[in-house]
Amino acid sequence: MSQVIDAQTAVAELVANVSTAFEKARAMPKSVYTSEALAELETKKIFAREWICVGRSSSLENPGDYLTLHLAGEPIIVIRDQNGTLRAMSNVCLHRMSTMLEGRGNKRVITCPYHGWSYNTDGCLRGAPAMKQNVDFSASDYRLPHYRCEEWLGWVMVSLNKDARPVAEEFGDVEAMIADYDLGSYREAFSEDFVWNTNWKILAENFMESYHLPVCHAGTIGGLSKLDEMICPPGEKNFNYHTILKDPSFTIGVAHPKNTRLVGERRRMTYLLALYPTLLITLTPGYFWYLSLQPLGASKVQVHFGGGMSPDFLGDADTEKHFNQLKTLLDEVNVEDKGCTERVYRGLCSSAAKPGHLSHLERPNYDFAVWLADRLSA
Ligand code: FES
Ligand SMILES: [Fe+2]
Repeated sequence: MSQVIDAQTAVAELVANVSTAFEKARAMPKSVYTSEALAELETKKIFAREWICVGRSSSLENPGDYLTLHLAGEPIIVIRDQNGTLRAMSNVCLHRMSTMLEGRGNKRVITCPYHGWSYNTDGCLRGAPAMKQNVDFSASDYRLPHYRCEEWLGWVMVSLNKDARPVAEEFGDVEAMIADYDLGSYREAFSEDFVWNTNWKILAENFMESYHLPVCHAGTIGGLSKLDEMICPPGEKNFNYHTILKDPSFTIGVAHPKNTRLVGERRRMTYLLALYPTLLITLTPGYFWYLSLQPLGASKVQVHFGGGMSPDFLGDADTEKHFNQLKTLLDEVNVEDKGCTERVYRGLCSSAAKPGHLSHLERPNYDFAVWLADRLSA
């Protein structure tokens, strides 16, 4: 049975947890995953402040393409305006405060479904019926509030924090480390959204370690991953990563013969990148897939899942077939990860649950815990 734990207690337990050296470290305390009060604190101290990925910019390519989301409770529209600039703005009407758009699509004009006030794609009020008799009303006074929105390596990043460092600065070290992959040129081929019954950090941590591959993924990719070919260096200030080598027989997971950018072992090297808080990218020389997470309280996570190919492979006769096989495989792997991460959440709600020691292959998890402790105790 889970108990009600206040945020202060959970943060104190987390800070104590990361005060142990990695060589002796244990998994994070269960309160960090189960406390609803801590989930609220995370919303305030992490999700309302950091850069959150909302997808690939190629999915919002044309003027008027939009998507909607809630970020830290705020209803937001991300839309490419008529001049090609991508904007993130409030999805709340400036009349009587209805939300406006839902899902994704393309609009030349954003029209509120309540009384029909309409907005241009740059957020300026375009028209409002029957408002001429209000002597104080002037359409030019109205513009939807904007949030930070940047495109970086093909990602669309949004932040509610007006003082956030530019993404390219914040994650400049990531960009330098993977420059020879040319991630910005990878094209998204699919994206999906779903909700899993687990804490967002359990799913993030599941991504950060490949220790679980041989067992959790025994039915799919487990046999392709050798524990002794995984390299887990200490994490950086705002991201962690580890690498694994792909078998050259896995054609789309290794560099295409046309690819002269990648040399040596990097031609079959997969990066697993965790950009805090929740952009989780598997980057191979041939394809990529990613998750972007948002908590729905302590016990549920909203997942945006997408992926696609590097341009070297586009135009190859077999690429589509290979990619379809890959997508089927990724879906099966996802089912396995869903099972593992939902079982962890159920397990750590038990009064008997107690965090065990970490393997050296869980180094990224430790670094993530350090980052969390730092953000939450600030
Ligand atoms: S609330 Fe949007 S037009 Fe009235
Ligand atoms: Fe997995």
